[in-house]
Order: sequence, then structure tokens, then C-alpha cells
Amino acid sequence: MVDVKEQINMNKKSNDVITLSVPNKPEYVSVIRLTVSGIANRMGFDIEEIEDIKVAISEACTNAITHGICEEENKFVVDFFTEEEKLTIYVYDNGKGCLSSNIKTPNIGELKEGGLGVFIIKSLMDDVEITSNNGKGTVIKMTKRVGDDV
Ligand SMILES: Nc1ncnc2c1ncn2[C@@H]1O[C@H](COP(=O)(O)OP(=O)(O)OP(=O)(O)O)[C@@H](O)[C@H]1O
Ligand SMILES: [Mg+2]
Repeated sequence: MVDVKEQINMNKKSNDVITLSVPNKPEYVSVIRLTVSGIANRMGFDIEEIEDIKVAISEACTNAITHGICEEENKFVVDFFTEEEKLTIYVYDNGKGCLSSNIKTPNIGELKEGGLGVFIIKSLMDDVEITSNNGKGTVIKMTKRVGDDV
């Protein structure tokens, strides 16, 4: 029989993938926030890091819902890749996509309302990559390393 401590260690080391297929409705963003906080908590992220991940994932999902989804698509997909030291999250939509020039870092001196989501995601996560193709959808990949904020 595997004792509890050994079991926890085994869980910690495993590289797992969790996939959510999410209806294109804003009310499900809170479900994704709860899911990621459970995953990140298990991986050993602290409360502040978990809050950062929750804010970043909410912005990415809100973008998928508001900008990404087109009439033929009624869902988007979130993948969580857990590794011992880092969590990588992908948010995919098969929506209308956009030109990469739309996704630019705002100039902090002339902030206006809107256009802050990607900036916030980049500030809170360690690595962020966005791939968008007009008409073919968007993928945002974001990574957070455990204990990197100290
Ligand atoms: N999933 C997506 N599909 C298509 N376009 C996107 C997607 N995500 C972002 N974009 C484009 O990138 C721009 C910048 O996104 P960002 O989240 O920074 O700002 P916003 O959503 O316009 O405003 P805010 O997030 O502050 O409410 C969007 O206005 C949109 O044109
Ligand atoms: Mg946004």
C-alpha cells in the first residue's frame, strides 16, 4: 500500500493535462477561475500567485468570449498542463481571430478604457504567447512558475 505522504509526492511530480470545453457564456468564467485555483493550489502556488493566475485566465477567457467567438462557434477550450515547477494554460477559440497589430501593449501614459486585458495578462504571468489568425481563431499560451514571485 502507498502511504499518504508518498501519494502526495507522486501527485506533485506528475505531469498532467486537464481540458475544459466551455460554453461561450460569461457566467462560466467564474467556473474556470475556481478550477484553476484548485489546480494551482494543489501544485503549491501561494495565495497571491493563485490570485494572479485567476485574473489572467479571466481576461483570456473574456477575450475568447467577447472577441473570439463567432456565430458558428459556441464554445472555447482551456487546457491546463501541470509540471512540477510550472503551470501552462492555453485558451483556444475558433472564432474570428484578429490581426496581431490589434494586440499591442498600451502606452501607460495615455491609458484609455479597454485594451488592458493582454497587458494585465503579461504583467501577471511569467511567459505569454498569443497567436491569432484572421478568420481562424486565437490561442493564448501563458505560463506561471511556482514560487517565482518571491
Ligand atoms: N480571442 C481573441 N479573438 C480575437 N481578437 C482578440 C482576442 N483576444 C484579444 N483580441 C484582440 O486584441 C485586442 C486587445 O485585447 P485586450 O484584452 O488587451 O483588450 P480589450 O479586450 O479590447 O479590452 P479590455 O480587456 O481592457 O476590456 C482586442 O481589442 C481584440 O481586438
Ligand atoms: Mg480583453
